[in-house]
Parts: sequence; C-alpha cells; structure tokens
Amino acid sequence: MSIRYDGKVAIVTGSGGGLGRCHAIELAKRGAKVVINDLGGGVDGSGGSSEAARSVVAEIEALGGEAIANGANVAKYGEVEAMVKQAMDKWGRVDILVNNAGILRDKSFTKGTLEDFRLVLDVHLMGSVNCTKACWDIMRDQAYGRIVVTTSSSGLYGNFGQSNYGSAKMGVIGLMNTLSQEGAKYNIRINALAPTAATRMTEGLIPAEALALLTPETVTPAVLYMVSEDAPTRTIIAAGAGSFAVARIVESVGKWLPPQEQTPEGIAANWEAIASTVGENQPQAGFEQTVKMTGHAMAGLGLNK
Ligand code: NAI
Repeated sequence: MSIRYDGKVAIVTGSGGGLGRCHAIELAKRGAKVVINDLGGGVDGSGGSSEAARSVVAEIEALGGEAIANGANVAKYGEVEAMVKQAMDKWGRVDILVNNAGILRDKSFTKGTLEDFRLVLDVHLMGSVNCTKACWDIMRDQAYGRIVVTTSSSGLYGNFGQSNYGSAKMGVIGLMNTLSQEGAKYNIRINALAPTAATRMTEGLIPAEALALLTPETVTPAVLYMVSEDAPTRTIIAAGAGSFAVARIVESVGKWLPPQEQTPEGIAANWEAIASTVGENQPQAGFEQTVKMTGHAMAGLGLNK
C-alpha cells in the first residue's frame, strides 16, 4: 500500500529551498495540499523575499499539485497565526506541520554574541513552538495531527561552534517529548528528523564526493513516514544519503547507594556501576525516573518487603 495524503493539508516551514522544498514537493506529489512557507532570507537569517516560496508553488502546480505561498517569519507569532488562517481559509484544515525553517550563526562560544544565540533559539525553537501552537487546537478539534520538528546531530551530540544551534535543536526534542504525551489522546503524533543533507547550509563543510550522496531526496522519506496515518510518535529519525536510524535518550539502570555512601566520594567509588550501559532504557515519561529511584531506595532500605 502506498502512503498518500489525499485530502490532507500540510504546512512546511522554510520550504522555499533545501530540505523543506523537497519535503513539500513530495507531500504534494502524494496528494497533500501544501503551504510553502519561507521568509526567503540568507542562511544567517538576514533579508527576506517570498520569491523562493512562490517558485516552489509554481513547481508543485506544474506537477498538477496544489500549494500556496506564505512569507511568515516563524519567529513572529502574529505572522504564524496569519499563515495558519491562510491555510484554514483556503482549505479548512491543517493535518500536517513540518517545522523545518532554520538559520545558522556559527561561532565558538567565546566569540559568539548573546544576540545571535537568542536569534537562533527564536527561529528554531520558538519558531517550532509558534507554528505548533497555532495549529494545535485545530488538530485537537479534528482529532488528527502529524507534526515533525527538525533537530540535528549538532543538538543531539554537539558540534564545535554551534552552541546556539545545538541548544535550539535539543530544545525541539524537549518540545516533542512532552507534546507527544499531551497530543496522544487527540491523535496528534509528533516526531523529530535529524537530517544530514547537502544544502546551502552545509556548503563548504562537506567534501564534494560526499555531497553528491547527501541529496534532500534521500532524507525526505523519513518525513513522509513520520507524517503518515500510521506514523510513530516521539521518535527521532536520523536520515541522510539513504540511511535511516533512530536516536534515543537513554538512562542507565543506576545504583542506589546506602546513606553513608551518598557522597561525592561514594559516587566516585561506584562510578562503573552507576554509568554501566547494561540494562539501560529509554524512559517514556519523566516520572519513570522518580518511580525507578524510589523503587531502588525502598529495596535498598528494605522498605518493600
Ligand atoms: P536551508 O537554509 O537550505 O533552508 C532553510 C530555509 O528556512 C530557507 O529557505 C530559509 O529562507 C528558511 N527560513 C529561515 N528562517 C526562517 C524564518 N524565520 N521563517 C521562515 N523561514 C525561514 O537549510 P536546510 O539545510 O534545508 O535546513 C532545513 C532544516 O534542517 C533546518 O532546520 C536545519 O537546521 C536542519 N538541518 C539541516 C542539516 C543539513 O545537513 N542540511 C543538518 C541538520 C539539521
């Protein structure tokens, strides 16, 4: 059975170029009506024109699909609300939101400014929050919503010179973790993409022979899967050059220390057991940690007999 989006309305932010353009075109090819949002600025977020968005709309129309252009800055809630209204006025629903828009202001932490840090957080993290907030009640009322946030290996694992970007990209994982719980009963599923692709964002960073393999087309299938009817929820899919993997946040089983060892010296002495990867798991909600730790303590203190 092929996966299709007939009758579904999708918003893809930052889809005037790069990965977003590819996500939007593939969604449209499979039947979705798509809002092509793009501020049309430089890779550092400067400037702006809706020309890029309009040209992707023209590409989709040439393929027989339906799309509209929107020039909202995702960091500005008023503009985002107007974008969602534009989709509602035209098509009456919003089923899919792909938070893809992003910028870079790379600098080592020593050299970077707080202004750049805030701007990067504003576009990636608050941009995702704004767009998700503006669609949330619509998706809840429809009892259907599929949301993707775009994280990065830089957020998950760190990257020299990207403390602002990495913080923002890990922030969207926090958003996903909670919203997947809050959205579950409304059939709203939310997942994250950790892409690696040759776009203007990675120009100059990757050697030419690898660039040829890292096309946006090799990444987009992960987004298509994560916004399908049978999508998972709360999943981070890493995708690039045709490989797909799942990233997880895990916690070691840990070790309860008796009161006299609940000291920094006690931690040092038990470090191997505390940090052991044997039996580590992926908690599904924060409270699992509390339950585990009180369980260990009760057992250690002999209180659960
Ligand atoms: P890109 O620079 O080609 O595309 C980003 C698009 O977002 C641009 O068209 C830009 O005009 C738009 N945009 C920027 N700020 C905006 C705003 N405030 N409002 C609306 N639109 C805005 O970059 P690329 O590579 O396609 O990146 C897409 C997403 O994937 C970004 O979130 C990026 O951080 C992420 N990513 C990309 C990786 C890669 O290897 N290319 C690696 C990891 C993450």
